[in-house]
Amino acid sequence: MIEIKNVHKSYGNLNILKGVDMSVEKGEVVSIIGPSGSGKSTLLQCINGLESISDGNICVDGVNVFSRATDLNALRANVGIVFQQYNVFPHLSVLDNAALALKVVRKMKRKSAEEVAYAQLEKVGLGDKASMSPTQLSGGQQQRLAIARALAMQPRYMLFDEVTAALDPQLVREVLDTLLMLSTEGMTMVLVTHEIAFAREVSSRVAFFDAGKIAEIGPPRQVIDSPKNERTQQFLSHQIH
Ligand SMILES: Nc1ncnc2c1ncn2[C@@H]1O[C@H](COP(=O)(O)OP(=O)(O)OP(=O)(O)O)[C@@H](O)[C@H]1O
Ligand SMILES: [Mg+2]
Repeated sequence: MIEIKNVHKSYGNLNILKGVDMSVEKGEVVSIIGPSGSGKSTLLQCINGLESISDGNICVDGVNVFSRATDLNALRANVGIVFQQYNVFPHLSVLDNAALALKVVRKMKRKSAEEVAYAQLEKVGLGDKASMSPTQLSGGQQQRLAIARALAMQPRYMLFDEVTAALDPQLVREVLDTLLMLSTEGMTMVLVTHEIAFAREVSSRVAFFDAGKIAEIGPPRQVIDSPKNERTQQFLSHQIH
């Protein structure tokens, strides 16, 4: 499980995270919603050690993310992250994009790396695009490639930061369906999203983030349909869902 305890983070004298407590159990899907600038992306990046914290603690399966003894490459293989900007490499084929980390980080032989990578491409519906350049893919397909690339590492956890935010509206659903498929397979996921209806559909719990803290957390029926917190109510009244 992921255990986030009293996490604080500041940039200079700007306090971004102000005491975040949250646990994510195996098999859970937790969505984080909330206003821009409230620290949602920062928190996700702290979970796999891409950002440091000022106080508190984060453990993944009992491993302290911020301990000097922690192998960050192993941690990041176990905790995949996918961003709004999919950052696929344009000079590599779709298959090579998905296989690269297996070869470099996992030190797998080319053939086995490609087999694992290809299986993940098939899973996200890109099996027939393996030999193409990512520049020939649509935005939704490139984002699914980014997801397949993370899945190829066989992570136990996946973090998604607004993975549909940069997509044309007609491409959003195919990526959400990929996330839905992962959730039905039992993948443990934390996702930051502005897609409130999707958060309701996919999440075991929803956290409303406000000014560096979780203002409210609970099942979607509670947090989205009948929020108790005034800030949650305000935020949701301005969202389409
Ligand atoms: N590297 C950085 N240096 C200084 N300030 C930063 C840095 N990264 C983020 N911030 C600040 O931290 C705050 C939280 O940013 P963060 O990206 O986590 O918000 P967010 O909730 O993900 O917002 P959005 O919904 O717009 O993506 C913002 O005020 C941002 O300006
Ligand atoms: Mg963000």
